[in-house]
Amino acid sequence: MHRFRFSASGGPVASRAPRLAASLATLALLLTLLLPAAQSWATDRDPFVCPWEGRASGHVREFSLSVGQVQWEIAPGRVVQTYAYNGQIPGPELRVAEGDTVRVTVTNTLSQPTTIHWHGIDLPVGMDGTPDFSQQPIAPGGSFTYEFVATPAGTRWYHSHVDELVQHGGGLYGPLIVEPRDAAAPPPDREYTLLMGELATLPANAQGSQPSTIRERDTSGHAGHGRMAALSLPTVNGFVVNGKAYPAAAPLSVTRGQRVRLRLINAGLAGTQKLALAGHHFTLTHSDGNPLAAPVEAEAVLLGPGERADVEFTADNPGRWQLRSLTPGQAAAGLMTEVVYTGHEADPVQGFAPGAEPQPASYRQFGGPAHRGTPDRTYQITLTYSMNDGAYTFNGKAYPDAEAIQAQVGQRVRVRILNMNLEDHPIHLHGHSFQVVGIEDQPVDGPIKDTLTLHHGEQYDIEFVANNPGTWLLHCHNVLHMAAGMMTEVHYQ
Ligand code: C2O
Ligand code: CU
Repeated sequence: MHRFRFSASGGPVASRAPRLAASLATLALLLTLLLPAAQSWATDRDPFVCPWEGRASGHVREFSLSVGQVQWEIAPGRVVQTYAYNGQIPGPELRVAEGDTVRVTVTNTLSQPTTIHWHGIDLPVGMDGTPDFSQQPIAPGGSFTYEFVATPAGTRWYHSHVDELVQHGGGLYGPLIVEPRDAAAPPPDREYTLLMGELATLPANAQGSQPSTIRERDTSGHAGHGRMAALSLPTVNGFVVNGKAYPAAAPLSVTRGQRVRLRLINAGLAGTQKLALAGHHFTLTHSDGNPLAAPVEAEAVLLGPGERADVEFTADNPGRWQLRSLTPGQAAAGLMTEVVYTGHEADPVQGFAPGAEPQPASYRQFGGPAHRGTPDRTYQITLTYSMNDGAYTFNGKAYPDAEAIQAQVGQRVRVRILNMNLEDHPIHLHGHSFQVVGIEDQPVDGPIKDTLTLHHGEQYDIEFVANNPGTWLLHCHNVLHMAAGMMTEVHYQ
């Protein structure tokens, strides 16, 4: 396996250069001031090792996924021609132990190229499934074997990273559960994994028409709705929960007294989901698979596309209850299932009282480890939408024109993100977990995440350690926004 160790390289703080240019006198003064500081940061630093260094247990788990077309029944009588891994939506649950070496052989039987991105796994860049700069897409008829050490533990998932609207939207996604080596708490009595999202399908005979490489995709101009309209756009067939629309979605059975864990994954394309279980409240234990410093009690959880939450509830209210999204329109379009207690299968299903507004947990309540150190680099990204050309942008620029984030191995990179647009933007970083270290100018020891959903007007500081050399993506996980430019690259110098 890959074994690299990176030493903390001394080179201090290139991002400060512009400020130093003010005058030669201040330059000289500041240099004398900065040098000791740089040294103390160096001793303050973690030993910089790549994320999987020392994690491999030596145990190997092998899987194979065949990517193909399928006739999929969303609900009785509603059959669509779409895509699936191993003929099923979602793809099979890959459940491994932290530190396992995971080997997944992917065979592409489609007439288009494809890749798989392992969302939330900190892996070597060549295994990241980003077409173009991570790997060549897997050609029609071809195959590729992904191999990585399963880290960090938690609720992860996988999805196609080619022509996302069509392939990911068409059902090419599945759960990847990494069980912790040392579980902090005893396992729950019952556990369910739910992948929820829009299912989009192409009209018969149409092909996906986005270019398969990342960099090509937007060179035809600033994407946006004008360009989107020129594609053969898929039809959104409403929402599915584990591949089925309510009431076809399989109910979750529980027995009175059980402690039940739900691994909730927003595998959707665009909509923020507000998830709640009638008659119960949730204890939120993990965000994006990573344990919170302390569990958070909440009536609902908000998940942007790409985000995950592990929640638990105690089965102490026998009956048959709605588990659904409260985002307007989503449950009616299929985003609902039921929790059914043993012996209550014939009860009437109970929902939320009219006017009830279950309160979702907020990031402000999510704690993480104490963060330390001053960042070596800071960036600022304002999320905007341009009415002129329909582009969704970072600092007014659509991919590939948006400024790349530059880092050297070992640096702490802080990114302040401000959402000036009216829509939600779930911002996802490949190859690195990040920590939320600031909310609206207030420093916080926030959660470790890989996808952060910003609502209108919100500002967050996120920080990551540049410990995984390569070229990576930072993008909005709303695939429409991503296709319309809301993306940039992270480069190592
Ligand atoms: Cu889950 Cu670049 O994506
Ligand atoms: Cu967005």
